Amino acid sequence: MPSAIAVSGLRKSFGDKVVLDGIDFDVPEGTTFALLGPNGSGKTTTVQILSTLIGSDGGRASIAGHDLATAPQAVRGAIGVTGQFSAVDNLLTAEENLILMADLHHLPRGEGRRRTAELLDRFDLVDAAKRLASTCSGGMRRRLDLAMTLIGRPRVIFLDEPTTGLDPRSRRLMWHTVRELVAGGVTIFLTTQQLDEADELADRIAVLNGGKLVATGTPDELKRGLPGGHVRLLFHDKSDLNRAAQALQNAKPDEETLALRVPSDGGVRALRDLLDRLDKTGIENASLEVHTPDLEDVFHKLTEKEAAR
Ligand SMILES: Nc1ncnc2c1ncn2[C@@H]1O[C@H](COP(=O)(O)OP(=O)(O)O)[C@@H](O)[C@H]1O
Ligand SMILES: [Mg+2]
Repeated sequence: MPSAIAVSGLRKSFGDKVVLDGIDFDVPEGTTFALLGPNGSGKTTTVQILSTLIGSDGGRASIAGHDLATAPQAVRGAIGVTGQFSAVDNLLTAEENLILMADLHHLPRGEGRRRTAELLDRFDLVDAAKRLASTCSGGMRRRLDLAMTLIGRPRVIFLDEPTTGLDPRSRRLMWHTVRELVAGGVTIFLTTQQLDEADELADRIAVLNGGKLVATGTPDELKRGLPGGHVRLLFHDKSDLNRAAQALQNAKPDEETLALRVPSDGGVRALRDLLDRLDKTGIENASLEVHTPDLEDVFHKLTEKEAAR
């Protein structure tokens, strides 16, 4: 599949702070790519560079086949951007905002009206059409913002933390819309701090931390690459804890929480074996939790070094 976004060696510093220290990735057409990273890791900076709002200090990028450095105008024509901070004009109604956008895209008047009506309907904004945007809820404004980017029928859409601060219902609606767009062949570049969102929407995820992409892959690949599955055994006193620790291989006791952490894939066989060995110690009073690694673990593992610095 051809690339909708191809980035290599992208660099950016603000003063002596290196924000992007050479990042590479490729997003095939018609797929969703999530750039995942903690606050301040450079997600918005990446979006701003790729959407031609600010320049980079090095590296190359092409969007929808257009080179960012030599054809920024063509890039702008192919993309839509919904920023972390909304482009909605508060002093206009939802409908007026959309019509203004249609005018900016030089749509003929009739077509602009038609497209506006269609988008108001699609984004559940019909009731808000005649209301000032300033009186709309956060979720409605976010939807309006996305509807405005769709006026120009972009093939590549950048969504910078599209659901941060949204209530669960608006968040679901946003996810639904993203899936619909991708089904229609649009490419989505999404930034998020929310792991479940990346897991839910993205075909591929890249984790940005300390200026580098510290991991790239499908959600499953990222989860599989992580050895973190374990069983926690919880005891009632220290002597039980230590007795069990001696009986089980690789077990790490924590005297404070009276918990024993035993690496395990959580399968029935491994659990049976574990319980058999525990049985032989004669300890009766214990409980057990199975912990399979999820994206949360991946994220914490990949970003914990940075946080400790
Ligand atoms: N215009 C700017 N001038 C100076 N520093 C900036 C500017 N924009 C962003 N930064 C810094 O770059 C880093 C990355 O910011 P940003 O891309 O907004 O992160 P994210 O979107 O992942 O939260 C932060 O440390 C931020 O303070
Ligand atoms: Mg940001």
